[in-house]
Amino acid sequence: MVRLPSVDAVGCMKFYTIAVPFMLSSVSSFLFMQASCKNNMGYALDHKPATPLIRLRNITKTYGKGVAAFQALRGIDLTIHQGEFVAIMGHSGSGKSTLMNLLGCLDTPTTGTYHYQGISVGDLDGDQRALLRRYALGFVFQGFNLLARTNSLENVELPLIYRGLSQKKRDSEAVRSLFSVGLASKLRSTPSELSGGQQQRVAIARAIVTEPGTLFADEPTGNLDSATTREIMALLTRLNAEMGITILMVTHEDDVAAYAKRIVRITDGLIASDMSVKKEPPAPAVIQAKPPAPDSVKTAEDVPPSGGAPSTHSHSDFGVTLLKS
Ligand SMILES: Nc1ncnc2c1ncn2[C@@H]1O[C@H](COP(=O)(O)OP(=O)(O)O)[C@@H](O)[C@H]1O
Ligand SMILES: [Mg+2]
Repeated sequence: MVRLPSVDAVGCMKFYTIAVPFMLSSVSSFLFMQASCKNNMGYALDHKPATPLIRLRNITKTYGKGVAAFQALRGIDLTIHQGEFVAIMGHSGSGKSTLMNLLGCLDTPTTGTYHYQGISVGDLDGDQRALLRRYALGFVFQGFNLLARTNSLENVELPLIYRGLSQKKRDSEAVRSLFSVGLASKLRSTPSELSGGQQQRVAIARAIVTEPGTLFADEPTGNLDSATTREIMALLTRLNAEMGITILMVTHEDDVAAYAKRIVRITDGLIASDMSVKKEPPAPAVIQAKPPAPDSVKTAEDVPPSGGAPSTHSHSDFGVTLLKS
C-alpha cells in the first residue's frame, strides 16, 4: 500500500505525479534486475532497460557572475542505467562534487538537460525536486553527517519522519536497515561511541532506509583507513549486487574505484574518459543471516550482534529479493 505523507491537496497531487511513478518504475526496474541478474550475481546487465535511469545532455554549471564567473562543468553528456555502479574520478577542483550535486538534485545546472527515469528534472519545481530526493535518492558523504547526540536508530529513522510513518514502523524499518549494514548490535550507540567505519555504516543505513533507486556517495571512504575502506566498499558492492541499488560514487583513489563496474574520469569540467570495469566481484561482506523481528526492538541487547553468514533470505520489505551469495 502506498502511504501518503501528510501534505495539503497540492502536495498530494505532486506526490502522485512524482513519487508514485518513481515507486512503480522502481518496482518494474527491480523485477527487471532480478530477471537479468540471477545467473551472474548482478555483475553484468545483459540487457539494459529502454529508459535510462539518468540522462545528462550538455550540462554546464557556472558559479558566480561577470568577471568572477567560473565554469565548473563545461558540457557533460552522461547516461547511467539502473543497476550500474559508477565511480567518478578526477583531480581536486575538476567538478566531481558539482556534478554529484546536480545529479542528486541538490543544485541546478546553468544549461543542459537532466532526465531521471525519463522525467525532466529541470521542469520540476523545488518541492517536486525535494520529493524526488526523498523518494528516489540516497546520499552518503565523506564526513558521515550524523547527528552527534543521537543514536544509530534515531539517525536512521530521520528520513522516515517525512513520510508520516508511525514510531513502530519507523523503528522496524530502521532496525532492518541497520541490520543490513551489519550494525544490529549498535542501535543505541551515539556516533562518538562508534568507529569511523561504523559511523559510515549508520550513514549508509540512513541513506538506504527509504529504499532509494540511486545512492550518491561523495568520497565515502575519504576519512577511513584502508581496512575499513575495504569493508565499506564490500558493503556498497553488496547493496549494488544484491539489492539492485544504482551507485554513483566520487573517489580519487584507484583502489576504491576498482570496486565499481564503470569509471568516469572528469578533467576541468569535461568527461575525459568513460570505461567499463570487467572483473570478478570482490568477496561479499559478512552480514547477518536474519533480521530481528520488529517487535524485538527494545534495547541493543535484545538484538543479535553483527557478523554471521551471508544473506540468503527474501527481503521483500525492501521491495527486492536478496540474491543468494
Ligand atoms: N559554490 C561555489 N562557488 C564558486 N566556485 C565553486 C563553488 N563550488 C565549487 N566551485 C569551484 O568549482 C570547481 C569544481 O569544484 P568541485 O566540483 O567541488 O570539484 P571537486 O569535487 O572535483 O574537487 C572548483 O574550481 C571550485 O573552486
Ligand atoms: Mg569534491
